[in-house]
Amino acid sequence: MTTSDAHVASKAHEPNEFGYRSYELGEFHFSRDEYFAYLNWPTGRHVMSVDAFLRALQRDVAWDFFYGIVNFDGVLGTMNHYGTVDLFAGRYNDAYRKAELDHVETIDTPIIRDTFAAMLADWTNDGFDPFASPEETGSAFGPKHGDNIAANTRHRVTAQRMVSLPGDEPLRSDDNGHPVNRMFADVTQDEPEVHAEPGFENEVGSFNLFAYLSRSPVTWNPSVVSVCRESLYCPTTEEYILPIIHGNDRAEWFVQLSDEIIWDVEDRDTGRKRAKVVVKPGDVAAMPSDIRHQGYAPKRSMLLVWENASLKIPELISSGRFPTQPVEF
Ligand SMILES: [Fe+2]
Repeated sequence: MTTSDAHVASKAHEPNEFGYRSYELGEFHFSRDEYFAYLNWPTGRHVMSVDAFLRALQRDVAWDFFYGIVNFDGVLGTMNHYGTVDLFAGRYNDAYRKAELDHVETIDTPIIRDTFAAMLADWTNDGFDPFASPEETGSAFGPKHGDNIAANTRHRVTAQRMVSLPGDEPLRSDDNGHPVNRMFADVTQDEPEVHAEPGFENEVGSFNLFAYLSRSPVTWNPSVVSVCRESLYCPTTEEYILPIIHGNDRAEWFVQLSDEIIWDVEDRDTGRKRAKVVVKPGDVAAMPSDIRHQGYAPKRSMLLVWENASLKIPELISSGRFPTQPVEF
């Protein structure tokens, strides 16, 4: 394995014969053609279908590298160190590690953020929305034609206190461009009545989370709807496949609110299979901090992801002062 310092260079090249630019981050080189994204580094090369690549890239950009590891697949990914980001190939893949073909670049967050955002903008064609379910968007393939900047840069919900409170993230409605999704036509849209004592109007709030989620235009995008200090409720609607394999640096709790998700759970560092978890409405799962997971949702479903955003947790876990499992049975 080779590792370089955080001051790696970033470079964009002129468009190729298909109209797409290629990008360099340190010793990594990214390019695309009509069907595939290609990654090259000094000791290896990798190829992904470009629609899967763009779905993963979109989330890494929108989430600003998220918690822990965002694996695009079993080879390529990023690990967030909250100030720098490791861009890696084969680092969390037993076979690549043993063959010493893996490679890591540690990059200042603004540099990889800007390069990934530029690549996402250049490689996304008109009509393709990487956040949408496959049934609800067009094709990622073919020579370059237009772009979809509005989809690539759409607002991500991050409530300061709670959705619907004064001055915070608004409720969704037909009027602000959030119709009820085709798979949630049976979700009631009434809102709770709040009768606050005089003087407490700014302190008491309530909203219909099911109605709110039924109007989500995107899939596999945990957004922050309520905050209690470092405890974040991040519900999301899921359909088809989670485009990344999320490697945890802390425990995550899942509460399945509707329908069903099948989770593949693997060892975080080697990719060895650990569990297959099928969650149905009302099921609660605690994902340990030493795993990675990818979900499959046959129908659009509602999932509550509960995160603790404390920056101290990854170090407490890696130093052994916190257990990797959040609960003992
Ligand atoms: Fe996750």
